[in-house]
Amino acid sequence: MTQTANQRSSPQNLSHEARVRADDRAHVFHSWSAQAQIDPMPIASASGSYFSDYSGKRYLDFSSQLVNVNIGYQHPKLVAAIQEQAAKLATISPAFANDARSEAARLIAEVAPADLNTVFFTNGGADANENAIRMARLHTGRNKVLAAYRSYHGATAGAIALTGDPRRWASEPGLAGIIHYWGPYAYRSPFHSTTDQEECDRALSSLRDLLMVEGSHSVAAIILETVVGTNGILVPPPGYLAGIRQVCDEFGIVMIADEVMAGFGRCGQWFAVDHWGVSPDLITFAKGVNSGYVPLGGVLISDAIAATFADRAYPGGLTYSGHPLGCAAAVASINIFREEGIIEHARWLGTDVIGPGLHALAERHPCVGQVRGLGVFWALELVRDRDTREPLVPFNAHGADAKPMADFAARCKEQGLWPFVHFNRTHVVPPCTTSAEEVREGLAILDDALTVADTYYVGC
Ligand SMILES: Cc1ncc(COP(=O)(O)O)c(C=O)c1O
Repeated sequence: MTQTANQRSSPQNLSHEARVRADDRAHVFHSWSAQAQIDPMPIASASGSYFSDYSGKRYLDFSSQLVNVNIGYQHPKLVAAIQEQAAKLATISPAFANDARSEAARLIAEVAPADLNTVFFTNGGADANENAIRMARLHTGRNKVLAAYRSYHGATAGAIALTGDPRRWASEPGLAGIIHYWGPYAYRSPFHSTTDQEECDRALSSLRDLLMVEGSHSVAAIILETVVGTNGILVPPPGYLAGIRQVCDEFGIVMIADEVMAGFGRCGQWFAVDHWGVSPDLITFAKGVNSGYVPLGGVLISDAIAATFADRAYPGGLTYSGHPLGCAAAVASINIFREEGIIEHARWLGTDVIGPGLHALAERHPCVGQVRGLGVFWALELVRDRDTREPLVPFNAHGADAKPMADFAARCKEQGLWPFVHFNRTHVVPPCTTSAEEVREGLAILDDALTVADTYYVGC
């Protein structure tokens, strides 16, 4: 006899795990999912780079959840800072000044590029991008915003319209005035380039063409992920970000760097733009700012844009802007990053452990078409044929089409590794605090799971 979820959850002797699962299935509506087709795994605990289910099985987290747990799980000093703030002052409206908020803003400005000195706090990444485009439009008095096709900027109305990937489709028609462009992606060049230099030059020249036909005088902002995250860990070729900066300066356009995923250590720098010495007008951040221990995001604002709102009210706000618990967590996290050298560690993991380790895997497994990344932000692009570069699964594959990647992910999980899988790629994005030994443990599991992906290889 089939039971309803409520009947299943009613017996007093239900195990804790069973109750978590039953209540979840009966009452929790999950993101991005057909509700009847999912069975979310109940998680019992987490520590460092691992989380565990109720049977005690541990998973080494090569996804940092949604690429946000940069500091690792349950860092004792971070947990203590949140507890202390909760005991002191758990909430206060954004209209007041508050010590946690003031200090968080100062510390974030300290680690940001030159003249980004002011922070507008939000609850996460999507609303940071919403506010960044609002600021850009008001600052310039223009409407249009250019965003890349290979991008994700969040799921609220404006942010999903900025998003270039298929998650946007169901929300169309979206915000008026958003125009998508092709950014650089040398491995699958939209410009038929054969070198990084060509890719950079052609991407910038195509952007200039777009500005010409759209009317550069009507464009408020160009938004881009400094290093494209979910859509492929696309590291920009040398000169690309400087080129975007130059285009923005030439046409009076606001440059917005979305560092929600790429910032706060992920790329082995405080901000990914630091790699290329480029200073955007606005930087949006979230995730790694406090590793999601309490939801927090924000917009870092240049002095010039802040001045626009010196004597003119900024028409935007949030009940929880600069929430003291989120801000106390950001203060503690930045201090811990400094004390424990986490940025330097993340950079070293990229150059000395993850990068060489993934290149070694590429030598052993024909299905690895390309390895790319930096810091703790890497991708293996899997293919059926190295010569044609046909992806292991099609763009946006679902169901049976996605089987090769599903099989690969299942093998990783069996072996105790939680992978990040998107389309035909697996991203290697563990916490920035992961030890070299733990990374090697994860690479050994990837080595095994890639033998599963290799079975779908058809090239010579
Ligand atoms: C680059 C980027 N921007 C924005 C967002 C949206 O952030 P949130 O989910 O906190 O709204 C994400 C989330 O993955 C992201 O990766």
